[in-house]
Amino acid sequence: MKYVIAVIQPDRLDEVLVQLTRNEIHLVTVSNVMGRGRQRGIAEVYRSHKEAGSLLRKVKLEIAVNEAFLGPTIDAITTGARTGEGQIGDGKIFVLDLAECVRIRTGETDGIAIG
Ligand SMILES: Nc1ncnc2c1ncn2[C@@H]1O[C@H](COP(=O)(O)OP(=O)(O)OP(=O)(O)O)[C@@H](O)[C@H]1O
Ligand SMILES: [Mg+2]
Repeated sequence: MKYVIAVIQPDRLDEVLVQLTRNEIHLVTVSNVMGRGRQRGIAEVYRSHKEAGSLLRKVKLEIAVNEAFLGPTIDAITTGARTGEGQIGDGKIFVLDLAECVRIRTGETDGIAIG
């Protein structure tokens, strides 16, 4: 199992969700966060709402998937979040190994609980 964390531009969230749904990925956690990339929040201010200091408003997605869904998840996020204009700040995807998953209602675990 993998745990996918993506930080994207807030205005790309709708399109990322469309692309995830298209790839049959429906379970997701979404948070409003603040962050900065390698431009340290400075050069990107023209396209993002500046939140505090050098931090910009971003959206974070977290998705736990079985291995088979890892590729489709990354494809969906990339397709939905990329502006196609080579713009800085389109976002980043991190992939972590996931050790365990439990559905609290049933006690099901791992591959069954995850989806
Ligand atoms: N190494 C990192 N560690 C933690 N968070 C990061 C890291 N890199 C990027 N992020 C998060 O992702 C957001 C978007 O990053 P961003 O797309 O600006 O990456 P970048 O490396 O600066 O690439 P680009 O040159 O395309 O802008 C950042 O605002 C930050 O919240
Ligand atoms: Mg950047």
